[in-house]
Parts: sequence; structure tokens; C-alpha cells
Amino acid sequence: MTTLLDTLNPKYALGVGMLDHDHREFCELVNQLHKADTVDFIRLFSALYAQTEAHFNEEKTLMLNTKFSGINEHLSEHARFLSELKTMDLAVRRGAIIMGRQFATTIVPEWFLTHIATMDKALAAHAHLCNPAQKIS
Ligand SMILES: [Fe+2]
Ligand SMILES: [Fe+2]
Repeated sequence: MTTLLDTLNPKYALGVGMLDHDHREFCELVNQLHKADTVDFIRLFSALYAQTEAHFNEEKTLMLNTKFSGINEHLSEHARFLSELKTMDLAVRRGAIIMGRQFATTIVPEWFLTHIATMDKALAAHAHLCNPAQKIS
């Protein structure tokens, strides 16, 4: 079975330590979900939700600390995706495994690739301007 997201793809690296670390974790969880049996799938789906929520909080802190002008749009997109993920996490825990697998192998990786190529990329560029040494972690 192939992996969905190439964790080491340089296209995913934004050059901000915290972002790149968390995004690699996200990719690894998505790839594990893709290969998981039902018991592991339920556990890993909840782990993906928790990891995403924690990561969004980290990004929010970065946006606030660097006075990022795109904060409102970015946070509302985080809230929208997190709500979708939470709804699906509840459904998976109630037994909607096939629906959860479909979501985890299509919508989640598609969302990730679009989000890092647009909103997270803009945030990383802003963070670099605030800290040209790129030591934001
Ligand atoms: Fe991100
Ligand atoms: Fe983001």
C-alpha cells in the first residue's frame, strides 16, 4: 500500500521549525491511518484530531506573536477544518469506519496540501520577515 503524503517532500518544508515538525507529524499520522486496521484506525483518527488541534494552537500563538495580518482568515479556516475533523472523529468512534477511511484518504490529504501551499506558506513568509534568522521554532 502506498503512502498518501511524502513526509520528506521538500515542497512541504516551510523553513519554520515548529511548522515543519508538526506538519511532518500530521503526514505520518495520515499515512498510518491509511494502513491501519479498524482498531488502530479509530485510535489514530482521534490522535490526528488532537495533533491538529494542538498544531492550530501553536500557529495561533505564532500569528499573535508576530502580529500576522491574515490571522482572522487563517483562524477561521482552522476552525472550519477542526470542526469537520471533530464531527468525523465522533462518527468514526460510533462505527462509521468506511466513511472515516474515505475522509482520511481523500479530504484530509487534499486539505493539507492546499492549506500548507497557501495559508501556512503565507504565515511562514511573514514569520521569516519577522525573524530573518529563521530561528522561530
Ligand atoms: Fe499548519
Ligand atoms: Fe494553518
